[in-house]
Amino acid sequence: MSTAATDLDAPGTGSAAPAPALRPHAEQAFAEELAALAAADDRPRPARWKMSPWAVATYLLGGTLPDGTEITPKYIGPRRVIEVAVTTLATDRALLLLGVPGTAKTWVSEHLAAAVSGDSTLLVQGTAGTPEEAIRYGWNYAQLLTKGPSRDALVPSPVMRAMAEGGIARVEELTRIPADVQDTLITILSEKTLPVPELGEEVQAVRGFNLIATANDRDRGVNDLSSALRRRFNTVVLPLPGSVEDEVDIVSRRVEQLGRSLDLPRLPDGFEEIRRVVTVFRELRDGVTADGRTKVKSPSGTLSTAEAISVVTAGLALAAHFGDGVLRPSDVAAGIQGAVVRDPSADTQIWHEYLETVVRERDGWKDFYRACREVPAR
Ligand SMILES: Nc1ncnc2c1ncn2[C@@H]1O[C@H](COP(=O)(O)OP(=O)(O)O)[C@@H](O)[C@H]1O
Ligand SMILES: [Mg+2]
Repeated sequence: MSTAATDLDAPGTGSAAPAPALRPHAEQAFAEELAALAAADDRPRPARWKMSPWAVATYLLGGTLPDGTEITPKYIGPRRVIEVAVTTLATDRALLLLGVPGTAKTWVSEHLAAAVSGDSTLLVQGTAGTPEEAIRYGWNYAQLLTKGPSRDALVPSPVMRAMAEGGIARVEELTRIPADVQDTLITILSEKTLPVPELGEEVQAVRGFNLIATANDRDRGVNDLSSALRRRFNTVVLPLPGSVEDEVDIVSRRVEQLGRSLDLPRLPDGFEEIRRVVTVFRELRDGVTADGRTKVKSPSGTLSTAEAISVVTAGLALAAHFGDGVLRPSDVAAGIQGAVVRDPSADTQIWHEYLETVVRERDGWKDFYRACREVPAR
């Protein structure tokens, strides 16, 4: 005999455990791997680092620990790139990750911070409107009015907190930040101190502090970084995937990870479709077909690896919810067109030309050609 009261109580009891975050931070999502690495790591650690540079690189590139623990690769690409990035963080130079959109700059920055200092959240998002306070400090006006300028009234920026804690601060899209605000970083990075004139004090960085910035070299270019600031950084360029195979590998792995977190069915046999998405993106990006025979025009969109990942993930969701769980051309066709045709007036023509001259003639691509033709034009 259940009563109305117990039925009403039921939802309340479920809320005792906090609901899982939609997107946990790297140090939460990979807590077990990080703990296993730190435990297995007997190499020297720089001051305040959670693990040695070797272990940080292994966390990013993947590997198997002596006790058999599998470390999944986060970054798929040249080992040297990660080794140089990690080494830089152990020096007095800051790290600038540079590359075209979708080359995993943000992703690598988050994982580096998580592995080195156990905290990837000390983050400043750079925009044209980023104020100086976002990099230095601000004030809590209620406290400021009652107590005057004091430590209690000061609101530290993520950078100031990283300095005080000896952690890693992250600045996203550095070159979008106005030049005079960027220059705030010069003293921080060269003197390792942040003066607070209102209090007649300074915050000195403790050992372990460093900074990772990302910048897009399509945006406006590193030229917008003043030369004084550029000298404080070691620049590491994250390359586009070198071959179709590499890019298919990246997309497959990331789609699998994302699919798992979205509770999508495992890809039984979507490999062909992934290869197709990657091939189309690469050919349009490079302006020439994979066999080097036919020139094609490049559309205005970036067609990055990151976009290939989202096209395939969206296709997989379509297949799971409205199809038979197998990824088919019709599940990715609309997504591809959406990524290619960013500017309808210029890109529609380019996409149709590509469909008619390349896709239509290609062996085994009939279904894909038909699926693309059936997508309503924008
Ligand atoms: N080489 C790579 N290895 C692993 N993941 C990659 C790679 N390239 C792109 N990605 C994936 O692309 C997505 C977007 O990358 P992101 O860091 O936002 O790019 P960026 O900041 O360079 O524009 C991430 O989910 C990342 O996993
Ligand atoms: Mg980014």
